[in-house]
Amino acid sequence: MLMAESLTLIDTHAHLDSSDYNADRAAVIARAFTASIGVITVGVDLPSSEAAVTLAKRHRFIWAGVGVHPHEAKTFDGKGRKGLEELTKNEKVVAIGEIGLDYYRDLSPRKAQRHAFREQLTLARRVKLPVIIHNRESTNDLLGILNDLSSPYRGVIHSFLGDASLAKEFLALGFHLGIGGPVTFKQNETLREAVNEIPLERILVETDSPYLTPLPHRGKRNEPAYVRYVAETVARIKEIPVGEVEKQTTKNAIDLFSL
Ligand code: NI
Repeated sequence: MLMAESLTLIDTHAHLDSSDYNADRAAVIARAFTASIGVITVGVDLPSSEAAVTLAKRHRFIWAGVGVHPHEAKTFDGKGRKGLEELTKNEKVVAIGEIGLDYYRDLSPRKAQRHAFREQLTLARRVKLPVIIHNRESTNDLLGILNDLSSPYRGVIHSFLGDASLAKEFLALGFHLGIGGPVTFKQNETLREAVNEIPLERILVETDSPYLTPLPHRGKRNEPAYVRYVAETVARIKEIPVGEVEKQTTKNAIDLFSL
């Protein structure tokens, strides 16, 4: 049987249930598999978490994260938490996520965001799954909550965009750092400096498809096959062969998410 170890890369953060793929989802998935790329598809609320699990059940090299995104935190309640917990009983569910805080768009009240985040961190601990964390202009409160509950954590700070010193703080808490399309953007020199400092053993590569499309496709819809542009950029930053990035980040994903 083919194992996850046979994959070239694993895109650890995509939203394959997005309506952006309704016209050609099968082709998008086929392009990833042809390139030997596995995918963790991540829910943002209860229905999309259910959709993620359905996709994961259908494809060997797709796994699912289930969670309520900070944008949707106002929908998080006891029923939602029970629904998520029920989904974690499926063996293709490998993480609680996407969870976290987003004070940039503030699509849910901040108090609701903090509540949903804490509750889902606790749920992850109870069901013994790693977490996939979203953080946008909310670092102080995020670190406050993480430090308040007990570290070390198992999980990833998805789409990490900070500098080397913030990277160190998250590493000290036990997290991996998810590096995505923005690392290819010209203006993100500080992020590239951080990536140079982060041990390869703690890096995951991701796309956040259909968003955050890397160069050279920036401006168009993203898809998991483009994770190779992220891996190539990490290799260039660290001045190592791309094969080394592929091998180590795939191993990191397999170990963290028990794939
Ligand atoms: Ni996402």
